[in-house]
Amino acid sequence: MKLPKPKINGEVSLETAIKRRRTIRSFTPEPLSLKQCSQLFWAAQGITEDRGFKRAAPSGGALYPMDIYAVVGENCVKGLESGAYHYDPKGHAVSLVSKGDLRNKVAGAALSQTWMATAPLNILITAEYDRITGKYGKRGIRYAIIEAGHIGQNILLQSEAMGLGAGIVGAFNDDKVRRVVNIPPNHEPLLILPVGYKIEGL
Ligand SMILES: Cc1cc2nc3c(=O)[nH]c(=O)nc-3n(C[C@H](O)[C@H](O)[C@H](O)COP(=O)(O)O)c2cc1C
Repeated sequence: MKLPKPKINGEVSLETAIKRRRTIRSFTPEPLSLKQCSQLFWAAQGITEDRGFKRAAPSGGALYPMDIYAVVGENCVKGLESGAYHYDPKGHAVSLVSKGDLRNKVAGAALSQTWMATAPLNILITAEYDRITGKYGKRGIRYAIIEAGHIGQNILLQSEAMGLGAGIVGAFNDDKVRRVVNIPPNHEPLLILPVGYKIEGL
């Protein structure tokens, strides 16, 4: 499914987004719009270069070993059925890889961090190391892990700039996350970012 075109201007300054960003662990059940999801995927790995190659986050050797998946709950994103989706940066589109509301299973795979299942959207960042180790050898693994951090920060700041909140989770069982989300065995899950409207005051 093709996503709406992302915006390249917003109302919150970068400095304010940096100042306000916190790891958010409580979300209201309010659904997100497809536009908000589109914006988050674009900030994560969208193509930002006019000639259509380079992406929102830097990548060692511009080899782009990362993939973005998203777990969408039932009635959580207007216009998207519940399930797990894969983001295609070139087409700025998502495709369904698993059906159903998988949020409780994802939280279960993340050492039962049940708060994650309250977020309408859980964004998963994975790395396929072969795409970068061919050029850089073992050091490519380090580069991919660093790249996950860049992508994660883009998602955190984009969430804040849109009046949303996001958490960041590194504590999970890789194989369980792979099984739940239905991702290829050579895609290593590195970070999960639950995103939604914050419960103010928490
Ligand atoms: C790589 C990484 C992994 C993290 N994993 C978790 C996690 O599994 N669960 C969690 O609740 N917070 C996790 N955090 C969030 C940290 O606890 C949080 O960033 C830290 O307490 C600082 O708070 P702040 O992000 O609100 O500034 C993680 C942060 C990073 C950078």
